Amino acid sequence: MSPRKIIIDTDPGQDDAVAILLALGSPDEIDLLGITAVAGNVPLPLTQKNARIVCELAGRPDVKVFAGCAAPLKRKLVTAEHVHGKTGLDGPQLADPVMPLQDQHAVDFIIDTLRREPSGTVTLVPIGPLTNIATAFQRAPDIIGRVQEIVLMGGAYFEVGNITPSAEFNIFVDPEAAAIVFDAGAPMVVMSLDVTHKALTTRARVEAFRALGTEPGRMVAEWTDFFERFDKEKYGSEGAPLHDPCTIAYLIRPELFTGRHVNVEVETKGEFTSGMTVADWWRVSGREPNALWIGDLDAEGFFALLSERIGRL
Ligand code: RIB
Ligand code: CA
Repeated sequence: MSPRKIIIDTDPGQDDAVAILLALGSPDEIDLLGITAVAGNVPLPLTQKNARIVCELAGRPDVKVFAGCAAPLKRKLVTAEHVHGKTGLDGPQLADPVMPLQDQHAVDFIIDTLRREPSGTVTLVPIGPLTNIATAFQRAPDIIGRVQEIVLMGGAYFEVGNITPSAEFNIFVDPEAAAIVFDAGAPMVVMSLDVTHKALTTRARVEAFRALGTEPGRMVAEWTDFFERFDKEKYGSEGAPLHDPCTIAYLIRPELFTGRHVNVEVETKGEFTSGMTVADWWRVSGREPNALWIGDLDAEGFFALLSERIGRL
């Protein structure tokens, strides 16, 4: 089977970085057409820089990285330095990237790529706020029907929120953008906190990254060492959820994941619930299903895949 053509839309972020490395370590399954950076965990100047740092770490300075939207559609940007650190990739010391940022705006790259590639052959993998994707859909509605699938990290239902009591960060930052994407009608797979909170690092899993004996393996171990302190303190868990790599792992080995086709709506008006993803898991609303909502994964298989593929870099 030929590799799946994808665009990763991202706000690196340590877990975004692991997702990018997993994609670059899996060339038989993934053809990464480009990386589009969006403001989220940290402001855009840092997310576009961090995306290039990760590509160089993987030995892939040829990957095209584009800068996209610096702020949500209608709201003030909310960032997450409290989780990811000031740089967004806190943990190890990192040199500035040498590879260039592409001149083209990320939104134009998304539109041009979907218009150029045969319809139904490009998958969008958003793992940050959905501002770039929504802007592309608003500016060029003709591309929506050309999207093969959207496999995104975002939202929460049974796990409730991680940035507010009701909302997950990626959706909370730009609820209007999320509503546009969820309502667009493209086939969607949603990796919410319901499943990513089961993709928890453990000491053994982090040491398995370090034991790879490679620079990428060492970096991933140091990123998770830093990244997990917040979740361990907040949830009292042994480790931290590796949210974003779940999207790429799904593209490589979908059998690791289980879910249900349900209707998902995004709350944009609630005083206490703005950014909440209302997943009709028990199908009581009568609203048409618009997403495959993933609820569980084989965590051992997921981490084994991560170590094996990152070990190839
Ligand atoms: O809520 C988790 C999500 O928010 C992940 O994508 C993480 O990188 C942050 O962007
Ligand atoms: Ca992210």
